[in-house]
Amino acid sequence: MTNELKGKHFLTEDTWTKQELDTVFETAFDLKKKFYAEEPTLHLPHKTLFMMFFEQSTRTRNSMEAGMTQLGGHAHDLTPDKMQITHGEVAKDTAIILSRMGHGIACRNCFYGVGNIYLSEMAQYSRRPVMSLQDDIYHPFQGLADLMTIFEHCGKNTKGLKVTISWAYATTHAKPLSVPQTQILLFPRYGIDVTVANPKEFPLSKNIIEKAKKNAEEGGGSLKFTNDMDEAFEGAHIVIPKNWGGFGFYDVDKYLQNEDACKKEMSANLTRYKNWICDDKRIKLADKNVKLMHALPADRGNEVTDEILDNPNISIVFDEAENRLHTAKSIMALTM
Ligand code: CP
Repeated sequence: MTNELKGKHFLTEDTWTKQELDTVFETAFDLKKKFYAEEPTLHLPHKTLFMMFFEQSTRTRNSMEAGMTQLGGHAHDLTPDKMQITHGEVAKDTAIILSRMGHGIACRNCFYGVGNIYLSEMAQYSRRPVMSLQDDIYHPFQGLADLMTIFEHCGKNTKGLKVTISWAYATTHAKPLSVPQTQILLFPRYGIDVTVANPKEFPLSKNIIEKAKKNAEEGGGSLKFTNDMDEAFEGAHIVIPKNWGGFGFYDVDKYLQNEDACKKEMSANLTRYKNWICDDKRIKLADKNVKLMHALPADRGNEVTDEILDNPNISIVFDEAENRLHTAKSIMALTM
């Protein structure tokens, strides 16, 4: 295992070169092979990871904790109510202290306009690598698992692959923008042609779109946008129907100053798009071998029908979820 990435923060793939990401994928595939062969992979014996969750999690929490155990170390599962964060201890002090006691810090903080600033402050003051478990802008571990799953099902030469990321209706919480934003930044770097569909009141953040367009130019992929879900599904090799909140509709400062009013408006806008669902009719517009991906948890019957989500010829969502483990182990083993 190379030492070249030791100590590198992982808040977004955008600060990692393609070569570094290729090393991450190679390591993840190797760790997956060894996991199935039940070969020990004790790359982090006796090391400690501190995990701080400001929000709930199934996949992220368990892929990191199981991953640390499988690498020979231990992960502390922390929430703000177990820490002095509840009494106002700041990110800087928390990062300095935890990084003196262990070997890595991982944190999920998805509050809009807050999360990425919090994580960046931790990274600034931590003497150990800081990993994002998702913030309001990025979900880098999800992006890695997504691309690994694409490599497995579509091959490693992804040039010309058509991936549709579509906003979808959901009755569950207003999900962060971080999953689709990570995907549009990352996939075109691998030559993928990405189409994003969303109602006009549910855009992604402008600055991320601009950066993703640059990534597409440099990486040989492409990026286009539409307000028509049907049009976006036509000919797609992979479809990713997923809800996200209307945060990108507002300037961050405006949102923070008028949070309650913005949430009320978002909620009213949401009800106008109940027909934005991935169902059999829309799947038939896509390529005949189309695959469904979703970061999960899915809002069954709203984002996507059970019929599609449970169809083993179409749905690869559980491979995608499992790959959270192998990619998490890769990042931890390489950076800690
Ligand atoms: N996809 C994902 O991040 O799932 P969790 O919220 O369960 O961690």
